[in-house]
Amino acid sequence: SSSVSLSPLQMMDSEGDPGENQTISDGFILVGFSYLNKLQILLFLLLLVIYLVALMGNLFVILLIKLNPSLHTPMYFFLVNLSFLEICYTSSVVPQLLVHLLVEENTISLAGCAAQMYVFNIMGLTECCLLAAMAYDRYVAICHPLHYTTIMSSRACAQLAGASWLTGISVEVAQTAWIFSLPFCGSHRIHHFFCDIPPVLKKACADTLKVKILGFIVSLLFIMIPFLLIILSYILIISAILRLPSEEGRRKAFSTCSSHLMVVTLFYGAALITYLVPRSSSTPESDQMISLMYTAVTPMLNPIIYTLRNKEVKGALRKKIDTGIFAHN
Ligand SMILES: *[C@@H]1O[C@H](CO)[C@@H](O)[C@H](O)[C@H]1NC(C)=O
Repeated sequence: SSSVSLSPLQMMDSEGDPGENQTISDGFILVGFSYLNKLQILLFLLLLVIYLVALMGNLFVILLIKLNPSLHTPMYFFLVNLSFLEICYTSSVVPQLLVHLLVEENTISLAGCAAQMYVFNIMGLTECCLLAAMAYDRYVAICHPLHYTTIMSSRACAQLAGASWLTGISVEVAQTAWIFSLPFCGSHRIHHFFCDIPPVLKKACADTLKVKILGFIVSLLFIMIPFLLIILSYILIISAILRLPSEEGRRKAFSTCSSHLMVVTLFYGAALITYLVPRSSSTPESDQMISLMYTAVTPMLNPIIYTLRNKEVKGALRKKIDTGIFAHN
C-alpha cells in the first residue's frame, strides 16, 4: 500500500482543502487529469480529434440513412436512434473535459453535476435497451424472415425505441434525485473527470448502502437483462444461420448482423472491464482511462464500424457520391 499512498491524486487530497468538513453546497472540483500537468494539452488535442470524429461520424450516419430510401428499414431506424444517442452521450462528458484540460479551475456546480450524471446515465441505460431492441430486430429478420415486415412494423420499431428512452429517462430521474438528496460534505474534490455515480457517492456523508443497492438493482434490470436478451438472440441467430444449407446464404445472413455484434461487443466489453477489474487493483487513474474509452472512443468507433463493414451502407454512400449529393461545390 505504500506505493498507492504516493499516488499524485492522493497527495493533492492531503494538501488540505479549505472546505474540509463543511457541507458542500457550492459544487465540486473535478480533479480529473490534472495530475498530467503540462501533458494535459496533449490529451486535449487527442480528445478534441476523437470528439470531432465521433460527432461528424454519427451525424454522417444519420444523414446518410435519412437521405437514402433504400436504408429506411427497422435496422437503420434503430441505427439513427443509436447515433443520435451516442452524440448526446459523448457530449454530456467530453466538451466539459476539454475545457477542464485547458483551464485551472475545474469546478462544477451541484446542479451541473446532477444534470451531467442524469444525462450520461440516461444515455447509458437507453443504449443497453436499444442494443437489445436491435438484437431482437436481427433475430426476427433471420429466424422469422417471412413475418419480418409484420412483426417489425414502423409502429413496433417506434414503440421499442420509445420504450428504451422512457426506461432510461424515468429510472435515472429516480436514481439521480435520490443521490442528490444525500448530504455531501468533506473535501470538494472528485477524483474523476466527470460526475459519474461511484465517485460522487464517495463524497456523500450519509449511509449510501441503500443507494448502492438501488444502483445494483438498476444495473441488473436494465444492463444485465438486455445483455442476456442480446446473448439469447445471438444464440438463436447463430444456430439458425448454421442450419442454412448454402455457404453463400450463411455468409450473407451473418453479414447483416456482424456490425451490430461488433458494436455490442465494444459497448459491453467496456462495461465488463469496469466490473471485472478487481476493486483492489483499480486506481483513480485506471478508472479514468476505462471511462475515457467508453465516453470518448467507442462513440467514435460505432459509425466507423457501421459504414466500413456494411455493404448496404457502403453501397448507399457510393450512390450518393456518384449522384453528387455530397459533392456540392
Ligand atoms: C428515436 O426514437 C424515438 C422513439 O421512437 C423517436 O421519438 C425519436 O425521434 C428517435 N430519434 C431519432 C433521432 O430518430
